[in-house]
Amino acid sequence: MKQDTECIIIRGIGSYVPERVLTNDDLSKIVDTSDEWIRTRTGIGERRIAADDEATSDLCVQAAQRAIEDAKLSQDDIDLIILGTLSPDMLTPATAMFVQHKLGIKNIPCFDFSAACTGFQYGLEIARTMLLNSKYKNILLICGDKLSAMTDWEDRATCILFADGAGAVVLSREPGDQPGIVDVLIGSNGKYTDILNVPAGGSREPTSEQTVHERKHYLKMDGREVFRLAVQKMGESAGEMLRRNNLKISDISHVVTHQANIRIMDAIADRLHIPQEKMRIILDKFGNTSASSIILAIDHYKKCGIILRGELILTVGFGAGLTWGSAIIRL
Ligand code: UT7
Repeated sequence: MKQDTECIIIRGIGSYVPERVLTNDDLSKIVDTSDEWIRTRTGIGERRIAADDEATSDLCVQAAQRAIEDAKLSQDDIDLIILGTLSPDMLTPATAMFVQHKLGIKNIPCFDFSAACTGFQYGLEIARTMLLNSKYKNILLICGDKLSAMTDWEDRATCILFADGAGAVVLSREPGDQPGIVDVLIGSNGKYTDILNVPAGGSREPTSEQTVHERKHYLKMDGREVFRLAVQKMGESAGEMLRRNNLKISDISHVVTHQANIRIMDAIADRLHIPQEKMRIILDKFGNTSASSIILAIDHYKKCGIILRGELILTVGFGAGLTWGSAIIRL
């Protein structure tokens, strides 16, 4: 185990999904698809979609309040908020600012970062580095997305996948020899910016009548290429994570991959010889909720009494960029 992570613990965890359920049958009334196709090709049965007046920050606030409560802290104990999202409330200011205000916290620093669906691992790396090298004691890491706001509801190749949700953890620097963050490994390759992106609305192609007409303000994806790279990069990252910590799959109690497609998860399990009973899956109920998917899964299985305090969890993710990352953690 790495000595430099000894003192960072996961003090609390919380998650939130909106109330509205959108089933595969509901989707088959909007685009040319079927429950059977979606279930077989993706493993998704239904997903949650935020209300019109619910923004990403609203989802994040709910998750954050639950994580702070789980940590048995108050809002005033939080020293820093970092928030990973690809669907911010506005282009500026940071969504973390809206969350800070709604939580009733004043003056502490807050910022967003953009690592798409690998937000959890990127956030862990940022938080642990800041906790180990600064005066901060309790960091609130939130990952949340309202992907439904960026989904093209006329594109059957993407609208069946994406969903809304948020997850949060409170990370604290503590004396002790049971690190909550055992190790984190993150990577990226900017060669693949074209396979998953929102082409317009930024400085390269500001929003115009033309970009809206061409539906360029929605998520565009080369599904097959993303699939291929997801299996390759998550497999490599998780393998390296185990190797450099001298751990075998038999030492890990739970494997939580980004919840993107059941076939991607099965391919990772095959590649790393992970028994199916160690794979933690919530994709069928919640779809692809971007960076929050791993926190949602951990929180869900913790509440069911399946993930227990102290057990080793291997998490692995990938997302637009292309970004990827893995982490070994324990609650
Ligand atoms: O957080 C990261 C986000 N992205 C991902 O994880 C995406 C990774 N990729 C995938 O999950 C899969 O590539 C998809 C689920 C997006 C697509 O599955 P696929 O098995 O790769 O399908 P495909 O794109 O190769 O398309 C196969 C067929 C096509 O028809 P033809 O050309 O063979 O006649 C598609 O037009 O399936 C058709 N198709 C659909 N049919 C019914 C595509 N989407 C649908 C649909 N319903 N929703």
